[in-house]
Amino acid sequence: MTEKRKLRSQSWFGKMDKAGFIYRSWMKNQGLPDHVFDGRPVIGICNTWSELNPCNAHFRDIADRVKRGVWEAGGFPLEFPVMSTGEPIMRPTAMLFRNLVSMDVEESIRGNPIDGVVLLGGCDKTTPSLLMGAASCDIPAIFVSGGPMLNGKYRGTEIGSGTAVWQFSEEMRSGQMSPEEFFAAESCMSRSAGHCMTMGTASTMASMVEALGMGLPTNAAIPAVDSRRYALAHTAGRRIVEMVHEDLTISKIMTREAFENAVRVNGAIGGSTNAVIHLLAIAGRVGVEFSLEDWDNLGKEVPCLLNLMPSGQYLMEDFYYAGGLPVIIRELGDLIHKDALTVNGKTIGENVKDAECFNRDVIFPLENPFKPEGGIAVLHGNLCPNGAVLKPSAATPALMKHRGRAVVFENIEDFHTRIDDENLDVDESCILVLKNCGPKGYPGMPEVGNMPLPPKVLRKGITDMIRISDARMSGTAYGTVILHVSPEAAAGGNLALVQNGDFIELDVESRRLHLDVSEDELAQRRAQWTPELPPADRGYYKLYVERVLGADKGADFDFLVGKSGTVVTRDSH
Ligand code: FES
Repeated sequence: MTEKRKLRSQSWFGKMDKAGFIYRSWMKNQGLPDHVFDGRPVIGICNTWSELNPCNAHFRDIADRVKRGVWEAGGFPLEFPVMSTGEPIMRPTAMLFRNLVSMDVEESIRGNPIDGVVLLGGCDKTTPSLLMGAASCDIPAIFVSGGPMLNGKYRGTEIGSGTAVWQFSEEMRSGQMSPEEFFAAESCMSRSAGHCMTMGTASTMASMVEALGMGLPTNAAIPAVDSRRYALAHTAGRRIVEMVHEDLTISKIMTREAFENAVRVNGAIGGSTNAVIHLLAIAGRVGVEFSLEDWDNLGKEVPCLLNLMPSGQYLMEDFYYAGGLPVIIRELGDLIHKDALTVNGKTIGENVKDAECFNRDVIFPLENPFKPEGGIAVLHGNLCPNGAVLKPSAATPALMKHRGRAVVFENIEDFHTRIDDENLDVDESCILVLKNCGPKGYPGMPEVGNMPLPPKVLRKGITDMIRISDARMSGTAYGTVILHVSPEAAAGGNLALVQNGDFIELDVESRRLHLDVSEDELAQRRAQWTPELPPADRGYYKLYVERVLGADKGADFDFLVGKSGTVVTRDSH
C-alpha cells in the first residue's frame, strides 16, 4: 500500500541519497525486504516489557499480536523498548521514574521514523508515562493495556492483589500463619500474568484509557491471559494503521470532554486517587485546561456503581464477565459526553450504546448505585492552600467532620521508629500527620499516606483514624486518608510547620482542612524552618527534585508541560 500523503517516516526511508541508503540498509539486517520501505505507515510498538516488572512480563506476546494486525492492515511494525517501572519492586518508589519514562517515550517516538504508535502499558506508572510521552508528540496512538491477573484464590476464598497483602502479613506477624502458608498465599494471589486485579491504580488507569477514548472498547477489564486480550491487541494493530491514514492524532481524542468523561468514570468505578495526579499530568501534556478543582466539581454527582475490591467484593475478572467498562459508561447516561471521539473512529456513545450487564451484583445501575458517593473530594484551607484530596467512599463517615490533636512524624523513618511505641501519646481521636513524603521530599511521592494505625489504637478494635500527608496512597487501600497536601512540606507548605499538639479541623462537606494555629505563630515557626530535602546532588534525582511540580499540577516536570510535536529539523547524517 502506498500512502498518498507523505508520512514522516518517508523523510527517513523515502530518501534516495546517502542518508536513505543508511536508514534502509541497517534496518535490512533484520531480514526486511525492499517493499516495506515503500511509504506504508511505520507503526512503533512502545513496549514496557521487563522481567523486573512482573505485571508487564507477558508483553512480548501482546506485541506479537499487535504486529500481526499491523502487517495485515498494510503497515510496517517496529517494536521498541522503553524503561519499565515495576511498582512492587522499584525503590524508592516507581512514581519517581514516571516522568523519566515519559521522556524516554517522547524522544523515542520523535527521534525515530514512526507515523503512529501502539502503547503497551499495565503496571501503575507505565500507563500514565506512555500517555504523557506520546501526547507530547501528538501523533496517532492507541493504547493496549496488559490486562489484570486472574482472581486470586486462597483456600476457597477470592483474594485481591494488595488488599490481601496487609491481612496475610499481619497474620504471619502474629503467628496465625506458618511460613509455608505464607509462601502458598503469595502464589495464590498472583497466579497468572497481568497487573493487580483489584481496582488499584493499574485497573483504574486502564479504565481511564478506555474512558479517555485512547483504548478500544473493553480494553480495561479483559484478563491478561484471556484470548480476547490478544484479539484486542491484534485489532489495535490493524486500527492504528487506519488512524495514521486518517491522521487521527492524540489531541483529537484527549479533549476537555474526554477528561471530563474520565473523571466521571473514575467516580463510578471507585477509582484510585492516583488517577488525579496522572490525569492532571496527561492533560498538561496535551494542552487541555484541566485542574484539581475539576475532580471535585465533576465527580460530585457521580455515585460508585462497581462492587470491586478494595471498597467492594469482586475482582477485575468478574468485572469483565459482567460486561466491563462499556456497561459503566452506558449507565452514566447524560453524565458522559457521548460525542467524544475514540480511537476506533466512533464516539464513546456509539461504542457503549448496546453494552449489556450480565451481573447486577458487580455493576449496579445508576438509579440504585453500589455507593452514593464515588468521586474525589478536593480540600482547601491553610494546611493545603493548593489543595489536598480525600476519597469519601473509602473514608469513615463519622470522621468526615472532626477536630483532633496532631501527632506528627517528620519523615517516614520517624514514623517507622515511633508508630509501634507503646509510649506514643496517641488515641483514636488524634490525627496522624506525616511530612516530607511529597514529590520533592521523598523524592517521588510514594504510596505511604495510608499509615498503619498505632497498635494500642488497633487493640481497641479501631480500624480508622484521620491521616494527613503529602504522600500518595495505593489504590488498593482505604480509610479517612488525606493525601497530596500541596504545597508539600519540603516545598515550604504549612504542613512543614505542624507540631505535636496542634489542633486540626476537617470538614469534608465544606471541603475544609484547617490548622488551628494563629498566623503570627505560623510566621514565627516559618522563620526557624529549614527544608528537609533528600540527598540528591547528581543525576536524575537532582533533576527531579529541582524541577518537579506540586501534586496539584500532576507532579510533572515544569519543562515537560506541553507538547513539541514530531518535527526534528536536523538529520543525523
Ligand atoms: Fe503492578 Fe499492581 S503492582 S499493577
